[in-house]
Amino acid sequence: MSLTLKSFFLVVIASATALTVGTQDTYHLCDVSTAKIDLAGTTLPAPSFPPTFIGLGVGTQNYTCGSTGTYTNVGALAELFDASCFPITDVFDSGAVISAAHVIEFPFILGQHYFVTNPVTGTGLSPKWDFTSAAFAGNPAAFVVGSKIDDVPAPTNSAANIDWLYLTNLTGTLANEIYRVDTQGGQPPTSCTPGSPEIFVKYTAMYWLTGGSF
Ligand SMILES: *[C@@H]1O[C@H](CO)[C@@H](O)[C@H](O)[C@H]1NC(C)=O
Ligand SMILES: *[C@@H]1O[C@H](CO)[C@@H](O)[C@H](O)[C@H]1NC(C)=O
Repeated sequence: MSLTLKSFFLVVIASATALTVGTQDTYHLCDVSTAKIDLAGTTLPAPSFPPTFIGLGVGTQNYTCGSTGTYTNVGALAELFDASCFPITDVFDSGAVISAAHVIEFPFILGQHYFVTNPVTGTGLSPKWDFTSAAFAGNPAAFVVGSKIDDVPAPTNSAANIDWLYLTNLTGTLANEIYRVDTQGGQPPTSCTPGSPEIFVKYTAMYWLTGGSF
């Protein structure tokens, strides 16, 4: 790396640090409260609360093969990168989420998305967004478990891209609402051989969290 390039990165890193130093706002670099989620091409409801977090999720959707030879979703695991500083309407247009990943200059991890036993009924799996070991390390309340309200096909290439979703908080106060939008990948093959092992299909998505008390 040339000296000039090195100095450039040092300056950029110093500026990025300066953005966070001197403020309690360590969970994202940019305010997203006025950001507008683009739900065009879907019937998902508009948010009832202002956005608080926008994360780029990168991970897998997991599927097991049922006795009828089709896959059933059995959970997911994704890392959530802070995406609050993107020029939202340009970068987050459907289909652009992977290029969006390439413009994350300073990866900042908000937390993880995975599944837990439904905390209310004690049976079945529920999706959780857990910021307790990253953006809010040490704060055990920084999570939300979602209850799915709406599930619609991705507006583009829904055979490959998993559904867009709208959820509300079943438990937890990290958010009142959760959206999964701008999905890329994640769909399983249309058929499988019963008895075959669980599969892990790569995907990315934008997760918008609104409301909440953080
Ligand atoms: C989903 O797959 C990931 C590997 O990508 C694994 O670590 C995780 O435990 C799996 N979760 C479930 C609920 O199967
Ligand atoms: C959902 O989140 C809001 C905002 O933090 C909170 O007031 C409410 O109690 C939460 N609901 C549940 C069921 O935890």
